Amino acid sequence: MTRALAADGGGVPAGIIAAMSAVTGTTREVALNGAIARLKPYAFTQLRARQDELAAQGIRVINLGVGDPEDDTPEFIRDALVAAIKPSSRYPTAAGIAPLREAIATWIGRRFGVTADPDRHVLPANGAKEALYNLTALVLDAPGTPGRRDLVAVPELAYQVYGDAALLHHAEVFAVPLGRDWLPDLDAITPEVGRRLAILWLNSPHNPTGSVAPRDHYRRALDLADRHGFLVASDEAYSELWYDAPPPGILEACDAADFTGAIAINTLSKRSNMTGYRSGFIAGDARVIAAMRNVRPRIGVATPEFVQRAAIAAWGDEAHVEAQRARYATRRDLFLGLCARKGLEVEASQGAFYLWIRVPADVPGRDAATFAARLLDHGLVVLPGSFMGPRGGGHVRVAFVPSLETCKDAVAILDRIL
Ligand SMILES: Cc1ncc(COP(=O)(O)O)c(C=O)c1O
Repeated sequence: MTRALAADGGGVPAGIIAAMSAVTGTTREVALNGAIARLKPYAFTQLRARQDELAAQGIRVINLGVGDPEDDTPEFIRDALVAAIKPSSRYPTAAGIAPLREAIATWIGRRFGVTADPDRHVLPANGAKEALYNLTALVLDAPGTPGRRDLVAVPELAYQVYGDAALLHHAEVFAVPLGRDWLPDLDAITPEVGRRLAILWLNSPHNPTGSVAPRDHYRRALDLADRHGFLVASDEAYSELWYDAPPPGILEACDAADFTGAIAINTLSKRSNMTGYRSGFIAGDARVIAAMRNVRPRIGVATPEFVQRAAIAAWGDEAHVEAQRARYATRRDLFLGLCARKGLEVEASQGAFYLWIRVPADVPGRDAATFAARLLDHGLVVLPGSFMGPRGGGHVRVAFVPSLETCKDAVAILDRIL
C-alpha cells in the first residue's frame, strides 16, 4: 500500500501532517474557482430562511414566492415509475432509453409542428437546470483560446442559473435590457456584442414577469445568431402553462437544417408537477446535441431508468396538463380579481404561474423589498423583483402554486391588509 505524502511535507505522511496541524492550528487552503465569490446569493435560499423564521414564531406562512408546484404528480405517472423499479439496478445511459427520446420527439412534433429526429436532435436531461448549466460548458472555450467568445447574454431579469453558469465557466454576463413589454430588447445585440457572444438566452413564458414572446421574436434572435455565429438557447420550462393560446417555441421558428443555431430546453417540472423527478430534455442543433451526448456520460447526470419510464408516460399525455392549466387559471383569476379590486397594476403575466405586480404607490419609493417585507409580516411570502435584478425593484412576483383553498386564504389576507 502506498502512503499519501503531503505535497511539501518533506516525506512526512499526510496523516501525521494533519495531526501536526491540528496541534499547531495551521490550515491548508484549497484554491477555489474565483467565480464562486462572484455568485449572488440564491434568491430562493434567502426566501426560505425568512420563511423558517416566521414559522418558528408560530405564524402561518403562505408561500407565494417559490415556483415549485404543490399539486400532486398525476397517479398514472407515479405508477409508471413504481412499475419500472427492478430488483437489480444498473447504470442508466446518458443518452437515455430510445422510447423516451421517441416520446419527446413525438411531443415536440405534436406541440410545435416540427420534425425532430429522436437520435440526432433530442437528449433527456435531469430537468431544465441541469441541461442549461451543462449547455453553457459545451459552448464556452477555455479563457485565453484565440477567438474565444467570452459573453453570455441573459435577460436583465432572469432565472439565476444562466448567469451563474456563465460566471462559473469564466464568461462575462451581458444583461439584455427588457423593453416595455418585458421582452429582451434584441437591438442591444449590436455587432460588437454579437461577435463576442457565445449564447443568447431567451425564456418565454418568462420567469419572473410571465411575458410571452411571439414567434417573430425568436425569428429575429435566430437571424442575429446567423449573422454573428452564436447559439440561441430558449428555456421553455413554462411553455405548457398558458391562459389564452399556446406560446410559440424556438424550434418552430427555426427553419435551418438540423435546427442549426437553435436549442430548446424543456422540463416536466412545471408541466406535470414533477420537480422532484428531475426530468426534462434539450433539443435542437444536431452538432450541439452530439457534443452533449459525448460529454454527459462523463459527468454523472444520466437520468435513472425508472424516472425515464415515468417521463415517457408524462410526455405521452395531455389530459393531465389541461387539467393543471385549468387549476392555475382559477387561481390566477382569483388574484387578478383582487388586483382589480385594489387597483394593483399587473404587467406582462400572460404565461407561467406568475403574476408580475407593480408595487403600490403608498409603499415608500415603490420599493419591492419594502412591500414584500410588509406582506411577510402577515405571513405572505412573495418574491421581490429586486432579488432578480435592479429592473425588478418596483415589482413583486406572486406564484399562485398553492392549493385553491390556500390561495383563497392569501387573497382574504390581501383584501384585508391592502
Ligand atoms: C425559467 C426556469 N428555467 C428552469 C427552471 C428549472 O427547471 P427544472 O426543474 O426542470 O430544472 C426553473 C425553475 O424554477 C425556471 O424558473
